[in-house]
Amino acid sequence: MEKKHYKENLFSNNKHKKSEAIQNMFASIATHYDSFNHLMSFGKHHEWRKIAVEKLYLNPTDSVLDLCTGSGDFIKPLSEKICSTGSITAVDYCKPLLDICRKKYQQENINIIESDALNLPFNDHSFDAVTIGWGLRNLTDLDKGISEISRVLKKNGKFVSIDMSTPHNKIYKFISHKILSWLIPAIWKIVNNSDAGYYLFKSTEKFADIHQLCDRLNSVSIRSIKTKSFMFGNISIIWGIKH
Ligand SMILES: C[S@@+](CC[C@H](N)C(=O)[O-])C[C@H]1O[C@@H](n2cnc3c(N)ncnc32)[C@H](O)[C@@H]1O
Repeated sequence: MEKKHYKENLFSNNKHKKSEAIQNMFASIATHYDSFNHLMSFGKHHEWRKIAVEKLYLNPTDSVLDLCTGSGDFIKPLSEKICSTGSITAVDYCKPLLDICRKKYQQENINIIESDALNLPFNDHSFDAVTIGWGLRNLTDLDKGISEISRVLKKNGKFVSIDMSTPHNKIYKFISHKILSWLIPAIWKIVNNSDAGYYLFKSTEKFADIHQLCDRLNSVSIRSIKTKSFMFGNISIIWGIKH
């Protein structure tokens, strides 16, 4: 699909069209994705992922699913906790990002699979843990996404998500609104002639607030939920256990 077509559907109410547009948007920015992540987080995103993985208290033999894996930056901190008899399954529906991911990771116990997170090709109770980095916000059906996560998690399996959030402090909220609504979209336009920056702003604005997210996770039996924020509340980790 050409760039101009995905732009029309990025904010569509039609979930199928929107999902296809999101997929095409990520495909169009794939080559710049890692550098931009680094720039936008001031190089901090690896540290945040590491902290998120620590919340899982993984056993070396665990089987872990990383949803919406993109270029696979969650795989590195996960692989540091998992031994050769454990496994990491990384799923995304954007082939150009998965190609980058496949170049980074070639170990036998890392399976990289092209699939829709809303319709996972795994049996119930398959994984000891599920991670998702900046992915929940992109799902066109959040409730379906989290019910898939709960379905594939084993009983007492662990879940962690890291994503954008909105600061509660009014000053931080004002500043981050300016950066997200103006500066980041402008940078993406200049670098890639892309609407990815504006999409980031809009999807963050619309994303469930952390308390709503806790309720929704609770409703699919993910309990003992805790949260932690970074970057003045612009980034949050949320984690819990499937009961
Ligand atoms: C912001 S990127 C995050 C990538 C990676 N997790 C990271 O932390 O850098 C969001 C990813 O979600 C993927 N995604 C969005 N909706 C999806 C879906 N329904 N099924 C699979 N992947 C999806 C996109 O292709 C993209 O790679």
